[in-house]
Amino acid sequence: MFVFLLLLAFIGTVEAQRVPGQQKTDSCLCKINSSIWTFPAVQFMEVTRQVQICEDNLNEFEEKLRNTNAELPMMEATLQNISARLKTFGYLHTSGLYSALHLRQLNQELEDIHQSVNETHMQNPNKETHSLLSELNKAKNDVQRMYIDDFFNLETMKKRLRDLNNRAQSCKTIPNDFRSTCHQRIMTRISSPSITKLNSISKSYISGAWGRDAQLSSKKRYWEHCLVSGHKHGNTIRMYNSYEDFMASRNYKDEQIASSYSDKNAVQGSGTILYDNTVFYQCYSTAEICSFNITTKVTKRMKLDGAGIDNKFPFCYYSCRDWTDIDLEADQDAVWVIYATEENHGNIVVSRLDPLALNITHTWKTQLFKRSVTSTFMMCGVLYATRFVNTYQEEVFYAFDTTTGQEINTLSLPFEKVSAGIANL
Ligand SMILES: *[C@@H]1O[C@H](CO)[C@@H](O)[C@H](O)[C@H]1NC(C)=O
Ligand SMILES: *[C@@H]1O[C@H](CO)[C@@H](O)[C@H](O)[C@H]1NC(C)=O
Ligand SMILES: *[C@@H]1O[C@H](CO)[C@@H](O)[C@H](O)[C@H]1NC(C)=O
Ligand SMILES: *[C@@H]1O[C@H](CO)[C@@H](O)[C@H](O)[C@H]1NC(C)=O
Ligand SMILES: *[C@@H]1O[C@H](CO)[C@@H](O)[C@H](O)[C@H]1NC(C)=O
Repeated sequence: MFVFLLLLAFIGTVEAQRVPGQQKTDSCLCKINSSIWTFPAVQFMEVTRQVQICEDNLNEFEEKLRNTNAELPMMEATLQNISARLKTFGYLHTSGLYSALHLRQLNQELEDIHQSVNETHMQNPNKETHSLLSELNKAKNDVQRMYIDDFFNLETMKKRLRDLNNRAQSCKTIPNDFRSTCHQRIMTRISSPSITKLNSISKSYISGAWGRDAQLSSKKRYWEHCLVSGHKHGNTIRMYNSYEDFMASRNYKDEQIASSYSDKNAVQGSGTILYDNTVFYQCYSTAEICSFNITTKVTKRMKLDGAGIDNKFPFCYYSCRDWTDIDLEADQDAVWVIYATEENHGNIVVSRLDPLALNITHTWKTQLFKRSVTSTFMMCGVLYATRFVNTYQEEVFYAFDTTTGQEINTLSLPFEKVSAGIANL
């Protein structure tokens, strides 16, 4: 009988397991003591290492087998089966992004969602809150069972939690004046550009943002903001009182957002917007959102928990721009911030801001990897993401509806652009 021994060793606990693999007539069995997967006693890194060792040994075994003539095809198939089964644990290899996960965190997240849904349910009990509460109770029981049985699938649980969280966010009461007034939620077409213009300050400034005050009831103010200092920071915004002035680059007023481009209240990156005569932007080199009210000259700051900055999670599909970690957007009803966190594996997170209090009222987590996207924008409470098609064409390929918490992966809405790279949409 052919016997192969797998040696699994713990560095930390100086514990070793000898795992005999045995050839039966048509299979090779290799039993691994499941207690080595016990969680959270065993650190992820070590389990990862063990899976690696186990796979290495299997590869070695496979090599040896290749050199013998005995019943090769059958045994190889069996080995492939074992490898396939080990793949289930493959996610453990992604130590960088996944190491932050653990059971306690799941539990905490579950509690947070539960509390939020409970509150919503108390204010406005309905079918959705009722069904969410019962699903949350089921999920809680499952997490309890994970503790007891040491049997769990973090990925499945994380996905479930993300889905529950998004549904909870969407059924949270949104004040009436926040509700989208759009008749049709998902857009179907984008026209050709109606304005093509160089910035009025300098051709050497290739990154920044421009637009019209996004609040519908606001005066029609037009603005442009150029990033200086390595296309990274800025401290002034150029304001125009009419479309004609904006197009002719005349009668403008340069407003100071901060005293210099390296001030702590200076702007970082090209995610800036203007809403209600207030500039919303990422504060200089921190994971914080700043708002600067041009009317009152008051600056406010707010921390954006877990947001990656300094090119950790930029938009980066092709022809990438730097310093696009945090993207502020506004639609007719609200201000939104689009970013990515380690906790959501670098996937896009979208939060709704109360523009006056400058605090976050809702947060949804998508499954869209931020680096796979050129840029995003919001319309009618729907997040849209685009990807590069060619130098002169871009395509909207994804949408996330915050009203329902649903992702739409089937869009294909092409539109024209004037150059390959996009700093802000
Ligand atoms: C599995 O390993 C643990 C600790 O390493 C040991 O206490 C337990 O008896 C083992 N179980 C089996 C079935 O070998
Ligand atoms: C591996 O073998 C098991 C037990 O024989 C079988 O149930 C399973 O379907 C096989 N898996 C693959 C991927 O072939
Ligand atoms: C839900 O909220 C109510 C009132 O705030 C509270 O009495 C109750 O204990 C909460 N339930 C849970 C499960 O947290
Ligand atoms: C900015 O200040 C003006 C004047 O006080 C106020 O009406 C407006 O609501 C403020 N906007 C924001 C977003 O803070
Ligand atoms: C945001 O701030 C306002 C005013 O300070 C407060 O009433 C509200 O509860 C806050 N909302 C959240 C979600 O913290």
